[in-house]
Amino acid sequence: MSESDPIPAPEQPAENRPEPAADQAPHPSPPRIRKSIREGVWTRVVAIANQKGGVGKTTTVINLAACLAERGQNVLVIDLDPQCNATSGLGVEPTPGRSLYPVLVGDAPVMDRIQETRIKGIHVIPSELDLAGAEVDIARMDGYLHCFSRALQNLLATVRYDFILVDCPPSLGILTMNALTAAHAVLIPMQCEYYALEGLSVITSMVRKLHDSKANPDLEIEGIVMTMFDTRTRLAVDVVEEVRKHFPELVYQTVIPRNVRISEAPSFGLPVIVHDTGSAGAVAYRSFAREFLKRAEARRMTPVPAPSTPTPNLEPPT
Ligand SMILES: Nc1ncnc2c1ncn2[C@@H]1O[C@H](COP(=O)(O)OP(=O)(O)OP(=O)(O)O)[C@@H](O)[C@H]1O
Ligand SMILES: [Mg+2]
Repeated sequence: MSESDPIPAPEQPAENRPEPAADQAPHPSPPRIRKSIREGVWTRVVAIANQKGGVGKTTTVINLAACLAERGQNVLVIDLDPQCNATSGLGVEPTPGRSLYPVLVGDAPVMDRIQETRIKGIHVIPSELDLAGAEVDIARMDGYLHCFSRALQNLLATVRYDFILVDCPPSLGILTMNALTAAHAVLIPMQCEYYALEGLSVITSMVRKLHDSKANPDLEIEGIVMTMFDTRTRLAVDVVEEVRKHFPELVYQTVIPRNVRISEAPSFGLPVIVHDTGSAGAVAYRSFAREFLKRAEARRMTPVPAPSTPTPNLEPPT
């Protein structure tokens, strides 16, 4: 697809979206998936990961999901972080017992975990604090790296989304490793700060290990999105330049600025494009989503890796 190719117009402008629905039912049945999902369409599973904390992973998940939905894409956000920030940032109340935990340990079907959000085109599998305990239980299981893959396979056998975005916790622990084992690609948000590159080598070497161990030989690095760019500092400019120099193909042109509207939107349970549609943050995330979509479309069609046998030569991460 070329730059000038049309991308489906939003079905409904963000500012005209209906008011938030009333409280979520405690045990909602799986929502109907919109008819616009074409038969046989691919689903691209993208883990948003960086072992560094506070770099903009969750913010990117929420706002990328919203911008993709605005462009007519059907998106499922899976919150794999016990902090449940993606859940609450999408206006969904974390509810005990509703996280992916029982699914990961094989005690519950995945489909009844899916909830609607107040944003048209976005569904969520919420997180809840109990997910923290999942790491211990999963680590004891055979094929511990593939628990999330198995859940995804079951999900994709029933429903199709254009994108599944997985919000990972700030570590390379069992949950993040499960996400990376199941995903087609990892999107890495990087804060424009001094130690950014150092952190990047940790996650890129983990991607290499997943290739080498055959746990997920097809895992791609979808891209690197630079976040919290502060126009007033020379350091931010230097960091972006440096990262571009090392990864010219991977870094998106769009740089997300530090913007107060972005940071306050989660307290309203809204993405920034709904909270303040004309803000610099909203403009940046829309531009980023356009780039993301263009790049992702060029790479579609890869099937989700099938769950396989435990990977013997990959140590459980600490
Ligand atoms: N572009 C931005 N401008 C201003 N504030 C931002 C921006 N991006 C993120 N933030 C704020 O920075 C903080 C960290 O962001 P976020 O929660 O997205 O990071 P994270 O990587 O998911 O964190 P964690 O590692 O704890 O999961 C949040 O308070 C968020 O609102
Ligand atoms: Mg987060």
